Amino acid sequence: MKSKASAPGKVILFGEHFVVYGVKAILCAIDKRITVSAEKTKERKISIISNIGKLELEKNTSLSEINSPLKPFYFLANKIIKNHDTGIEIIVESDIPLGVGLGSSSACCVAGAAAISRLFSNTTKEEILKLAIEAEKTIFQNTSGADCTVCTYGGIMEYDKENGFTTIESQPNFHLVIANSNIEHSTKVVVAGVKEFKEKNEIEFTTLCNNESKLVDEVLKEIKENNIKEIGNRVTQNQEYLEKIGISNDKLRDMIKIGKNGSFGAKITGAGGGGCIFALTDESNLEKTIKQFKEKNYDCFSAKIDFRGLDTF
Ligand code: MEV
Repeated sequence: MKSKASAPGKVILFGEHFVVYGVKAILCAIDKRITVSAEKTKERKISIISNIGKLELEKNTSLSEINSPLKPFYFLANKIIKNHDTGIEIIVESDIPLGVGLGSSSACCVAGAAAISRLFSNTTKEEILKLAIEAEKTIFQNTSGADCTVCTYGGIMEYDKENGFTTIESQPNFHLVIANSNIEHSTKVVVAGVKEFKEKNEIEFTTLCNNESKLVDEVLKEIKENNIKEIGNRVTQNQEYLEKIGISNDKLRDMIKIGKNGSFGAKITGAGGGGCIFALTDESNLEKTIKQFKEKNYDCFSAKIDFRGLDTF
């Protein structure tokens, strides 16, 4: 028997980093997916095959011995099959660029938790999300949980660490033009850098958290009214706060300048330090924004909100 699941990537529209310190963030799932299939095998090993490499290990290998981005899959498989007399083969396919702040690792954790657990029982979305966050913690202990949550439920949502998520019922019809700096980043390292900034600049950081909170509350109204131009202004404002906490660099600033010129606003999405930025557009300025990135030889693509979330089949 084979079990298959897919989960979308995500964009943090507002509030990355500040969400780690309790501020509300706004996220949406995007229409680019990771698909994971899992199958029991007679050979009692855990084997993971993906386009970024292969990992094959005995059951009960210590996690500290594993240094691979595929570690969360191993964690999930080992946890789930521990008491079963079987091995497992996992195949991962992705149309999300990996490791660039678009939720590829969270989508892997969510689709992986679903595909593997459903080989044994009918796990609910809540149980899958819990497993996925546990798996994500094997590579990034301080995760806020926001990314796995949006990859599980899809759509656009508010999220804070204490209260979890609330789906935003309106469906704003913006487009995101996502441009990739092709600079690899480690979320763990960038989040640690922000922690250092916070410890050295407690007062400034508290002010920034308060400003971000206010911005998020204001923009929620604009999202509900589908006021794309105003949402775009807040995107640009949020970028100013991200600049202050040191997660930007010259290349990202250049990309944001290009993105802003033609769209309603542009900012880093996710951890920063590299990875992706997005520009917010509607139909009227979508093509122009894409053209401007392409003229400067930046990789870019357009995405819309995914309302499917986790899918099992
Ligand atoms: C990473 O996509 C988002 C961060 O806010 C970290 C987190 O929320 O876990 C930087």
